[in-house]
Amino acid sequence: MRILAIESSCDETAAAVVENGRNVLSNVISSQIDIHTLYGGVVPEIASRKHTERINHVVEQALTEAGMKLSEVDAIAVTYGPGLVGALLVGVAHAKALAYAAGKPLIGVHHIEGHISANYIENKELEPPFLCLVVSGGHTHLVRVADYGVYEILGRTHDDAAGEAFDKVARAIGLGYPGGPKIDKLSKEGNPKAIAFPKGQIADSPYDFSFSGVKSAVLNYLNQSAMQGIEVSPADVAASFQQSVVEVLVEKTMAAVKNTGMKKLALAGGVASNSAIRAGMEEACKKAGIELYRPSPILCTDNAAMIGAAAYYEFQKGVRHGLDLNAVPNLQLGER
Ligand code: KG4
Ligand code: ZN
Repeated sequence: MRILAIESSCDETAAAVVENGRNVLSNVISSQIDIHTLYGGVVPEIASRKHTERINHVVEQALTEAGMKLSEVDAIAVTYGPGLVGALLVGVAHAKALAYAAGKPLIGVHHIEGHISANYIENKELEPPFLCLVVSGGHTHLVRVADYGVYEILGRTHDDAAGEAFDKVARAIGLGYPGGPKIDKLSKEGNPKAIAFPKGQIADSPYDFSFSGVKSAVLNYLNQSAMQGIEVSPADVAASFQQSVVEVLVEKTMAAVKNTGMKKLALAGGVASNSAIRAGMEEACKKAGIELYRPSPILCTDNAAMIGAAAYYEFQKGVRHGLDLNAVPNLQLGER
């Protein structure tokens, strides 16, 4: 079964053709980062307009690279939430038009289910149940994947998402948007033990996260240093901040793995491409005898192949959406 999938929930216009949920025939991503960089973050109106300009071409390219015509695909899938409503709407409207014109079934997909399903693409043997740490620009979730499409959220962030903290700290030390990859790179030149930033803990919620504390601690450190005329090392700040995030993610995730008796752990979302997080998780999993899965960096950040993977399993479960499908900016995981 070959699914044409579309993703437009934030600042990537993406389309892909995926066969049987795991075999990627094409994966086209048109990033808008260069435009949003000018404003230091994603401007929703600009994102919607750029999606509108690019979506036709991106979808055509995905079909061409897969060597297929629209009439040859078996279904059309699209992210319908969560995300920026105007951005989501462009993908949803386009997918509905294609499904209607070609007479194909339509499958709406949850963006986070897509991120989780990215793990199926390069790990053909991976099947639920497993534990998944989803760390992206908008979400930080510890999820027990009980079965395909069956999720139990064990923990989540109470304030900023992990990626949001990376982006805000990067802006504060003058690295620009998107900050995650820049902090990752700069940290390699810094000392992760130089500054002791706090690790966010939530009382009585061992699997919940908080990143606003560490973010504020970095901002305070920068302000106080400036007031006292002390020169700071951006590389040390980046490495120390990253270290505190890695430690808390590893600690809570491994506690959840242990307490749920899971044998497999998967990482998902843009922040899962962070090299220190990957290394920290690898080390902890090796020690605990846990099988670790993480998508290649290009499948961690937003893409449509992951939506095609998730859609296949939704389709198998009988999920079909009508032409009344709408964008749902705050769609909950597991909601259909
Ligand atoms: O999953 P994603 O592409 O979009 C959302 O669904 O949010 O994640 C984007 C986020 C951004 O906050 C970006 O800074 C972060 O992922 N990110 C990283 C890295 N690459 C992307 N954060 C830390 N280290 C990285 N290497
Ligand atoms: Zn995402």
